[in-house]
Amino acid sequence: MHPAQLLVVDDDPIVLDSLKELLSLEGYSVSTADSLSGARGELKQRQFHTVLLDVRLPDGNGLELVEEIGATSAAVIMMTAYGTIEDAVQAVKIGAHNYLTKPLKDEEILLNIERGLEHRSLLNENALLREQLEQNLHLENFVCQDPAMRRALEQVRIVASTDTTVLITGESGTGKTVTVRALHENSKRADKPFVEVNCGSLPETLLESELFGHVKGAFTGAVENRRGKFEVAEGGTIFLDEISNASPSLQMKLLRVLESFEFEPVGSTKTISLDVRVVLATNQELSELVSKGRFREDLYYRVNVFNIHLPPLRERRGEIPLLTHHFLEKYRSQNTRELHGFTPEVMRVLTEFDWPGNVRELENVVQRAVVLAQGAFITLTDLPVEVVGEQVMPEPEEGKEILPLKKALGRWEKQIIIEALRANNGLRKETAKGLGINRTTLYNKMREFGLLDM
Ligand SMILES: Nc1ncnc2c1ncn2[C@@H]1O[C@H](COP(=O)(O)OP(=O)(O)OP(=O)(O)O)[C@@H](O)[C@H]1O
Ligand SMILES: [Mg+2]
Repeated sequence: MHPAQLLVVDDDPIVLDSLKELLSLEGYSVSTADSLSGARGELKQRQFHTVLLDVRLPDGNGLELVEEIGATSAAVIMMTAYGTIEDAVQAVKIGAHNYLTKPLKDEEILLNIERGLEHRSLLNENALLREQLEQNLHLENFVCQDPAMRRALEQVRIVASTDTTVLITGESGTGKTVTVRALHENSKRADKPFVEVNCGSLPETLLESELFGHVKGAFTGAVENRRGKFEVAEGGTIFLDEISNASPSLQMKLLRVLESFEFEPVGSTKTISLDVRVVLATNQELSELVSKGRFREDLYYRVNVFNIHLPPLRERRGEIPLLTHHFLEKYRSQNTRELHGFTPEVMRVLTEFDWPGNVRELENVVQRAVVLAQGAFITLTDLPVEVVGEQVMPEPEEGKEILPLKKALGRWEKQIIIEALRANNGLRKETAKGLGINRTTLYNKMREFGLLDM
């Protein structure tokens, strides 16, 4: 691995020297500049991964440089003294990754550089993947990084230009609806209606009239003619979700629609012909329902022409960081603070959780955390217990390396403190009381275990 390239810009030679020494020792490759023009010269010569940038420089304000650099090419970390905090905050608004206040602390600098590098590579990777996919497929608000998901989108691209019936399979919350939308938007029907009907949400008779419409007097309550969703979708795409719930009579009608694109509204004898693309979804194994006699075999063959499968989120954990950042951007404005991101601990918990509700559940958890967050970073206390709850104490494992007692106990101590902080919503006074220690001891232990941002 090549060392990350860092550029440090500050007009104070002491700051430059000490940062250069610190960062070189950490294995980074470090260049320095003592002015805006010097920095511009360096930036022309080399691709930097992270830029540490002073706000006040002899030939201008560091802010000017932030926009020039751009968020995806390098992560910019501002270094600010007391008098220039507002400028640093402004810099974060226009794309800087974060800011540090002087006097600088080594640990903080290193941590921020690491986060900046991580953030930048995520952004870059996303931009690259998007570029590749978007050459062929127009996708909005769709995050995709996992190989299986990319194959699914490739299938979307292939089938979008045809009128083939498509079956989408995947657990609840895996993104079936957004995928079908993408399919519609990339088809020649894009400027025609997109209609979604959930076949599990209405009783049988209502559902039939919802789909096919009815004529006045067809049943009690049918006081006038009503167009069904199939007619509303004319020329466009109709998406029938939870198709496994269709009753035998609805299955028969659907079979006819898929075979001849014709139907009659409920209570009518007039046949209507249609031009619609039909997409169906299910989270059940249709072939099993066929063998149990609960789903018509002939309909199964009509439905299962082209199958796109969306894997559950727990099978594509690699995408979780990207999705998480995507949802942070989406909901960021719901918190009046400057939210810079997630603590590494949070990212680890989110990536390891099993997500029974898939992407929808992750989105809800991030939205909630954004609202709850009290500081610049989302911390473990902002996550619901069912997500963090699995973070129980490490089971003693056989054959595991033997640690010095103090260190081994420290792990347990850290867990106990995390649990206690969580139980007290991060309130240190209550936590210390609950643990039977004083606040200073708690503070010192939190510092020792790197929990100060909890
Ligand atoms: N790849 C993705 N990128 C961005 N957002 C996504 C992605 N997948 C899902 N989402 C978001 O997650 C939520 C759930 O997605 P969606 O409604 O498409 O799931 P679903 O499979 O249709 O769920 P259900 O089975 O309950 O109908 C939506 O808010 C959607 O915007
Ligand atoms: Mg859906």
